[in-house]
Amino acid sequence: MAVSGIVLVLFLIAHMLGNLKVFAGAASFDGYAHWLRDIGKPALPGVWFLWILRAGLVVAVVAHIWAATVLALRARAARPVQYAHRKKIQGSYAARTMRWGGVIILLFVIYHLLDLTTGHLNPVGDPTRPFANVVADFAPERWYVTLFYTVAVVALGFHLRHGMFSALRSLGQQTPGGERRARAVALGFAVVICAGFLVVPFAVLTGLVS
Ligand code: HEM
Repeated sequence: MAVSGIVLVLFLIAHMLGNLKVFAGAASFDGYAHWLRDIGKPALPGVWFLWILRAGLVVAVVAHIWAATVLALRARAARPVQYAHRKKIQGSYAARTMRWGGVIILLFVIYHLLDLTTGHLNPVGDPTRPFANVVADFAPERWYVTLFYTVAVVALGFHLRHGMFSALRSLGQQTPGGERRARAVALGFAVVICAGFLVVPFAVLTGLVS
């Protein structure tokens, strides 16, 4: 769970930083996207490196879902007789939001790939012009797309906050003070990631990027 989670978090940090290039203009953003396809050349043929990264991401996502399923089944097997009256303790509430949050994020990623990677659901839909795709996507008249992205990114933020908190606690922050620190670091991290992602659609929506 943790190893695949770390891989996905590293991807999110890199993706969020890359997205911020939108503020440097079309040439910089599109140039960055083209550069991603050229990494490894000439040792590797074109876009091979990107496909290796994509394969790594798919492995991480599958491992993350698989580990979550194994852990959930193990937890259920440990208590074959269900609670007659299940108290809403914090742990089970967090687990439930993690599951549904994960499903929302997965559905969002599928939509997002069809939107900004393949272009099928994008008004411009030209994979060679990611800046134009982003600007068309979050145009003011398509405010509902920004709303949908916002819901998904906030769900991602909750997921990250709880995942990061659990990971930090497993790494030894188990005293009351350590838990407080882990909670603060996890919250700060989730807020930075959410803000870093959301600033792009909102910059387009408000006309700051056009
Ligand atoms: C909210 C702001 C976001 C914007 C503006 C954005 C923008 C983009 C763009 C323009 C691409 C295509 C890049 C290219 O073809 O070179 C892309 C790809 C991608 N994005 Fe996002 N993204 C956002 C959020 C997210 C989030 C929250 C996730 C994950 C939970 C995510 C996951 C991905 C993935 C997996 C790809 C495909 C990478 C590839 O294989 O080429 N994105 N995004």
